[in-house]
Amino acid sequence: MAESLILPSEDESVQATNDDATSSKKYAVDQGYWKDDYVQFFCRSAEKRTPEICRGYYARVLSIQKLLVKFLKLTSCDCHVINLGAGFDSTYWTMRDRGLTPRTYIDIDFPEVNKKKCQIIKKRKQLLEPLSKDSSHSATPTEISSTELHSAHYHVLSCDLRKVGELSKKLLDLGFDTNTPTFILSECVLVYMSSESSNPIIEWAGKTFSTAIWINYEPILPDDRFGRTMLSNLKYRGCALLGIDSCPDLTSQRQRFLNYGWSHSWALDMCQVYSLLPRDDVARIERLDFLDEKELLTQLLQHYTLSCGFKDTKGIGLERVSLEDKTL
Ligand SMILES: C[S@@+](CC[C@H](N)C(=O)[O-])C[C@H]1O[C@@H](n2cnc3c(N)ncnc32)[C@H](O)[C@@H]1O
Repeated sequence: MAESLILPSEDESVQATNDDATSSKKYAVDQGYWKDDYVQFFCRSAEKRTPEICRGYYARVLSIQKLLVKFLKLTSCDCHVINLGAGFDSTYWTMRDRGLTPRTYIDIDFPEVNKKKCQIIKKRKQLLEPLSKDSSHSATPTEISSTELHSAHYHVLSCDLRKVGELSKKLLDLGFDTNTPTFILSECVLVYMSSESSNPIIEWAGKTFSTAIWINYEPILPDDRFGRTMLSNLKYRGCALLGIDSCPDLTSQRQRFLNYGWSHSWALDMCQVYSLLPRDDVARIERLDFLDEKELLTQLLQHYTLSCGFKDTKGIGLERVSLEDKTL
């Protein structure tokens, strides 16, 4: 298998992309792009980012949050959320603050990343206390090992996603009910894996869950000038986008879900997503940073996609989990 040839240093470079994502989110939150009281605990100081990067992250975070909120409300939180390659994502805590705590929320990443995440959660009462307060049975304490955490609703699970058998076993060991509606998120993750590794996860989830929606965010269009520059910058940092050639555009992003067991799919580029975000909030964030020339932002947004696959055996109305109405 190609994966056995991956050197540890390549995995380390992929893991380090989490630091970049967390730092970019922290910087944008500090500038007021969106509210997140928890990202500060996962990143002490963030380097300055350009307005284009901040607006790109704004569109990414707000659109994913909007879809997740719709799903949580649709299921009255009687659902599972699985965040694949979650890194230091703080969405669990921000959703909880909005009164939206799903039955089970699982953040999955490499043990090396989760080790740091568990250490941070352990040290911060603002992160740790809500986990035990969530418990409906006061006898359910939060268990933290060096690389995993288990509480009443929130879990940090360590797994190399390229090993789908291991992923499946770990979820079943948690007592995961595959008939409960499930939201799967992969935010800038699948693209770091070859299609031989990512397609089996999509196929496994498509077969395993009866009613589920998968939201995927990642770069596309590797073959034009902007795309080639994006790829060579990442390669310079030791990070190859192993999956981009097998899913390089909106059509292949949509088709991938249909090929691997999902009955419906859609894909938008982030320019389209940006135009679907609420105009008043977009006007607010556009006042935060002056952007003289919009061409670079447009190119950046065109080179990322938000795609979705869903199957709705229970008929709960997953087609309504969309960005079509311009409200938050
Ligand atoms: C760019 S970061 C994104 C983090 C988070 N999803 C976000 O958007 O803020 C990519 C994450 O995917 C994780 N990842 C990539 N390949 C993985 C694999 N094979 N198994 C587990 N995690 C993986 C990395 O460790 C890293 O934390």
